[in-house]
Amino acid sequence: MGNVVILNHPLIQHKISLLRREETGTNEFRSLIEEIAMLMGYEALRDLPLEDVEVKTPLETCMTPMIAGKKMAVVPILRAGLGMVGGLLALVPSARVGHIGLYRDPVTTEPHEYYCKLPTPIDERTIVVLDPMLATGGSAVAAIDFIKAQGGKKIKFMCVIAAPAGLDRLRASHPDIQIYVGHLDRGLNDHAYIVPGLGDAGDRIFGTK
Ligand code: PRP
Ligand code: URA
Repeated sequence: MGNVVILNHPLIQHKISLLRREETGTNEFRSLIEEIAMLMGYEALRDLPLEDVEVKTPLETCMTPMIAGKKMAVVPILRAGLGMVGGLLALVPSARVGHIGLYRDPVTTEPHEYYCKLPTPIDERTIVVLDPMLATGGSAVAAIDFIKAQGGKKIKFMCVIAAPAGLDRLRASHPDIQIYVGHLDRGLNDHAYIVPGLGDAGDRIFGTK
């Protein structure tokens, strides 16, 4: 599927199944989503540039690879994307964090923007956009439109669960970005919720209804 990577690692699949369970409470849900984000990030960041630096071991001095520069930005789509931030920062603690606030109108399912703050200069950074759910794709497309309008170029999008319609829409709108998906679900219900899905990710992370 070209620019789409489905992360079918057994640990990720196991944790997504725990996440889906109706009886999984807020506390466990938060931990799981952060762990899944970290495991997904491990794969999504495998092309981070390296540079050889000089290191002195107890035995001798050698040239050895380290991540080049500190040019990464993690951008959660509020609210639910916030639940994934800790997992990425555990891997790259120096990453900058931007925020894009979008909510989906419950009737039209159209995304509405209410907040945006990105680190500058954004054009030089690898930008990892985080949202656990890719349903119709409207929110992800709008967020990436916005990041590109601000100058963002190297963009990766990471979601825990995707619906085929949302994935198709995101790929068609932004064929230049790399997309990482934890699990591709069957489809959307009449309310544009992913099925079987996990329900409302924001409500489950923050304990709201
Ligand atoms: C959810 C989810 C995505 C969006 C996905 O957010 O976190 O951002 O819906 O749906 P889409 O692909 O059809 O746009 P929601 O709007 O419920 O806001 P919240 O995170 O604040 O709960
Ligand atoms: N937003 C969610 O949180 N869950 C869905 O299934 C769809 C959109």
